[in-house]
Amino acid sequence: MGSVNRVSNARRGRCTRSGVELTSPLPRRYLDHPATSWPKPAPVIEAVLHAIRDVGAAAGRGTSSDARRADAIRTAARGAAARLVGDVDPERVALPAGATLALNMAIHGIVTPGWHVIATAADHNATLRPLHWLERQGTISLTVVPCDGDGRVDPADVADAWRPDTRLFVFSHASNVTGTLQDAETLVAMARKRDAITILDAAQTAGIVPIPAGSNAADVVVAPAHKWLQGPEGIAILAVRAGIEPRPLIQGGTGSGSDALAMPERFVDRMEAGTPDLGALAGLAAAIGWGERHGQASLASHGHSLAAGCKAGLGQLPGVRVLGTRERGGPPIVAFTVEGYDPAVVAVLLEQVSGVQARAGFHCAALIHGHLGTAKGGTVRVGFGPFNTPGDAEAVVAAIAAITGGLSGNSDRVFGAVSSSFPSPPLIHWQVPPWQA
Ligand SMILES: Cc1ncc(COP(=O)(O)O)c(C=O)c1O
Repeated sequence: MGSVNRVSNARRGRCTRSGVELTSPLPRRYLDHPATSWPKPAPVIEAVLHAIRDVGAAAGRGTSSDARRADAIRTAARGAAARLVGDVDPERVALPAGATLALNMAIHGIVTPGWHVIATAADHNATLRPLHWLERQGTISLTVVPCDGDGRVDPADVADAWRPDTRLFVFSHASNVTGTLQDAETLVAMARKRDAITILDAAQTAGIVPIPAGSNAADVVVAPAHKWLQGPEGIAILAVRAGIEPRPLIQGGTGSGSDALAMPERFVDRMEAGTPDLGALAGLAAAIGWGERHGQASLASHGHSLAAGCKAGLGQLPGVRVLGTRERGGPPIVAFTVEGYDPAVVAVLLEQVSGVQARAGFHCAALIHGHLGTAKGGTVRVGFGPFNTPGDAEAVVAAIAAITGGLSGNSDRVFGAVSSSFPSPPLIHWQVPPWQA
């Protein structure tokens, strides 16, 4: 199956000395899963549709039969989210409208003036920007711990950054640029021993990598529905340990205690002002259920076999640098650069040559590139989701071979190689997974 896709795709685009010509429409090869997942599993789409077409009432606001059905959808979503982050109390799991919002709610809601906060260079701007803002306002002092050339943070560097007034440690479980997984257990334990609060940004792990739970759990865990969980955009999980009570960033109607001006005490009410997005709630519950049915380990192993094949194939190409090659256990992300090419140009050519939709640039991560050696232009990034196939991984490699060879004047030779023998099939060991059957 993979080789059929490979050959037909390679023949659809053609490299000439003046550039790449699109000779016929290409199938969409969506590989931007670290940004958002697509396609969504059928049960997720059906759940969203059902909620907005058949239920269409405001959760937590009313006693009509449909308002109660809406309540049930929200309760199911909260319960599923609580299971996902380690069987925590659903009463401590809020479902705000996105991970960026949830991270801002956690950071701004918890920080107290005068605190010293530690973050890492491998983090996303969703945490680095609010922290930078607070530092610029003079509210906190901030230390950003470096990472290595793969995006890995050494726990010893975090320990070195610790000060007597350090009260909060914020970090991404895995880098959205390289997929590198941090040693969350060690980092959380370090913070706990020193009596600091930990905020874990699990945006790139929820749904594909187990989130540290039980005694290893971070105090605050944030995860969006729409990435590796395969859920809809516009909803995220914000799980906060009992005893930590963030100040509400957003205040307003909660459908409870409406005769009082003060926000309710109940955690989920305090964190969820405003009418919730019923379709997103239903989609989140369905996505978590879908992941549980197929098993996180199977979903991860599917993505990793494709990513490994893609990395191996790219690694054979002269001028291509694959980042994070030592990486194990994170999300199936492949980040690379092509010598002499702006990553943005490579991403455009990838789509033109083979229909591959990738992302290029800095990926909303301001600080990591200085450590990866990609400060000029960033990287090209692809990620492999549950509905990708070996044909998609091969298309990336074939297109990069074609682009580099083609633009350096070797197009016929490279395209000949692509259609006959490239890349070597044993690179990807794969069986059609049950969710694709
Ligand atoms: C590591 C990380 N944190 C936070 C976010 C923010 O997620 P969202 O854009 O869904 O709010 C992202 C999104 O790319 C991410 O990769």
